[in-house]
Formats: sequence, structure tokens, C-alpha cells
Amino acid sequence: MSVVDQSFRQPLLKVDPSRGHFKVARSVFVDPKIREMELERIFANCWLYLGHESELPKPNDFLTRTVGGRPLLFLRDREGKVRAYLNICPHRGATVCRESRGNAKSFTCIFHGWTFGANGKLLDQPGKECFAPNFNDDESANLTPVPKLDEYRGFWFFNLNPKADPLHDYLAGAKDYIDKVVDQSEKGMRIIGGTQEYSIRANWKMMAENSIDIYHGPALHPTYIDYLQNTTGATAPLDGLGGYAYDLGNGHGVAEYLGPWGRPVARWIPLWGEGGKREIDAIRARLEKRFGPERAKRLADNSFNLLIFPNLVINDIVSITIRTFEPVSPNYMTVTAQCIGPKEESGALLERRISNFLEFLGPAGFATPDDIEAIETAQHSFGAHSGWNDVSKGMPLEKQGWMDEGPIRAFWSEWNRRMTAAE
Ligand code: FES
Repeated sequence: MSVVDQSFRQPLLKVDPSRGHFKVARSVFVDPKIREMELERIFANCWLYLGHESELPKPNDFLTRTVGGRPLLFLRDREGKVRAYLNICPHRGATVCRESRGNAKSFTCIFHGWTFGANGKLLDQPGKECFAPNFNDDESANLTPVPKLDEYRGFWFFNLNPKADPLHDYLAGAKDYIDKVVDQSEKGMRIIGGTQEYSIRANWKMMAENSIDIYHGPALHPTYIDYLQNTTGATAPLDGLGGYAYDLGNGHGVAEYLGPWGRPVARWIPLWGEGGKREIDAIRARLEKRFGPERAKRLADNSFNLLIFPNLVINDIVSITIRTFEPVSPNYMTVTAQCIGPKEESGALLERRISNFLEFLGPAGFATPDDIEAIETAQHSFGAHSGWNDVSKGMPLEKQGWMDEGPIRAFWSEWNRRMTAAE
């Protein structure tokens, strides 16, 4: 079966179940027209992750982000309500708030000095007497709120399409994995420390694939696997530990598995000593009391790599990383990564979490530089030679092994559905 829309004049996916083939045209990684269509058909119609509730702990806290190509102002107003606006001045388009974060009761645009409240309303204009008294009766001079804003268990998302399905429907099976993160805490989760920001000379979809591509682990990250085996006492090869990969609906996908590493909540390894064992055992006991032994074991032991379509990754591995990527141009993306953990965690447990966050998925960690090198070589090839990428591994099987490429196919199927949908 060739999946094609006439507006592209060429097939973008080739799917042949009889041969177990699933292939993606390499042009989708380099074509500027594809990126323009993605901004409209995907990023202007999907729920996009904006931030975590813990990033706005107090009234009047704000932060600015660019998501899906749109500059945004994300804040908590003085009554405690979370709001989000386009960070674009309704006067003549300048950026209203130029700080990345802070606490403010109002925002004054640098260009001509219009001032807006945290409720988005225009409060003042230099030369106000020169404007008609009813100038803003239609509220067109207020900040523009995002059409839809909602949260799931502290994770805030927005949607530029006012007719979009509700967030909870959109998240589909991914909700179970957000639950798996949030249930680790008795007092709620919080973003820990600052934000890692880096860029990759490659198309944003390469990072979507890479984040749920477990297949590449043993070949691309042998140094880390050696390190794990030397420091954790793990004897099983990484690909012998087992797990499954799931299509979670709506383009979301996950690989859930047992890793050889320790987890601050709550899987002990000998490297952490007897003191660490007592702490971890106590956390496990509390998890069992709250959720029963089966769910507690899953929360404590199982790692996962989750992609929420199109550009949010939650990796609950040796630490929990929240990662997003921005499609700056067909050949260039920016990436942000944050560490999240239980509010009640402190001392050695917190130190282990932060160290794990930096050690594996940090921009100078054991994994990310390898990933970036591989991704950038592939992007270079796409510009030099058109053809097809293969993501067929595990296609004939009913139940996907954890190193199969089923979640990547889920991403591409949804991408294709949205890109080829009727106007
Ligand atoms: S563009 Fe903002 S006040 Fe003029």
C-alpha cells in the first residue's frame, strides 16, 4: 500500500504488510514545504506541551516559551489561575515579554509602551488621549489568549484549534504513563533545577523517532552499557532484559521495560550502599501501601520512553527527563530538557536523580552526544540522496518487543493522517 496525498505528488509512506515493510520517504526530513504544512496541520491542531504547574509556584509567576513556532507567555495570575497568551503585541507585533521567567503584575511592550495585565487586558497606552474612548471595546487590543488551555495532572498543554478534541481524549493511552510518573510522589512532582537547551542540525522528526527508538541502544551506546555493567553489577545484556513497545493511540507510543540501572523511585543497586537500600526499601513499602504490590513494582522497577505526539518526550529511566523539540527549519531543531522528581525527595536521593539526569540523557551525557552524531549524519545523507527510511522491525508481530519499531510507526501513521487529511 502506498500512502499518498496528491498535494505532495509523491508517496511519503510505503506500507506493505505482505512483506512486513514500513518505509518513510526521506524527503519529509528536508522539504521546506513539508515543514510549512507541519506547522499548520500538526502544530496548529495538536495539543502541545507548554510547561509544568510547578514552574509557576506563586501568583504573578510567568515564563516565556516558543512552541510549534509560536512565542507564548505562560503565567499564573494574581488569583492563581494559569493562563497562556501569544507573546505578540496586538499593537504592531513586537515581543511583549522578553524575559525567560520571573514574577510580574503587568507586562510593558518595549516598542511603544503598551502595558498589559496578567489577565491579558490592555491597561495603559502612552498617548492614550489620542485613541478613541471605545478603542478597545472589542478587546482586540488585549493580549491574545491561546484558544484552548488545559492540564493533565500538572502537565499543561495548549491547542491553537478552538475545535480540537478535549486534551484528555487526545492523550489517550499516554495518560497511563503520566500517571506512572505522578504516582511516584506523595506530595506532587516538581521541575528540578534549570533547563538544558541545545540544538541539533537535523529535522525535528528525527528526535521524535530517536526518543522511542530502543533498537539503537546496544549499537550506539556501548560505552554506557559497559559503564552500567561495571557499576551496577548487571550481568544480563541490555537486550535480554525484556519489555514491550506499545502504540498508545493518536500517534503516541512507548517502550516499557526493565533496565539494569537503579531508580531513585525506587529500585536499589549495590552502588548505592546499605544506607541507600534502607531509603529505597522505605519508598517501595510506601508505594505498596498506596497502590498494592503489583502497581508498586511497576512504578518502581519499570523504565519507559514515551512520545506524546508530536514533540513531547517523557523518559522515565534512571531519572525522569521531559524533553521537547522545536522545528526551527527543515534541517535544524532546538531541544529543551528538564528533570522532574517528587517534591518530597531530598539528600542523597535527589543527588542521585540529578546525577542520573546529567549522566545519561544530558547534552554532555553518555547518550545524547552519540544520538546527535548519528542523527546529524542521517540528516546530511537525506540532503545528498533521496530514498526511503526503514522502520519495519517487529511489524509482523502481534505483540511488539521493547526494541521493535512499532511506536515509531504509530508516530508516522498519525503524522501521515494529519498531513494528508482533507482541508
Ligand atoms: S508593538 Fe507593542 S506597543 Fe507597539
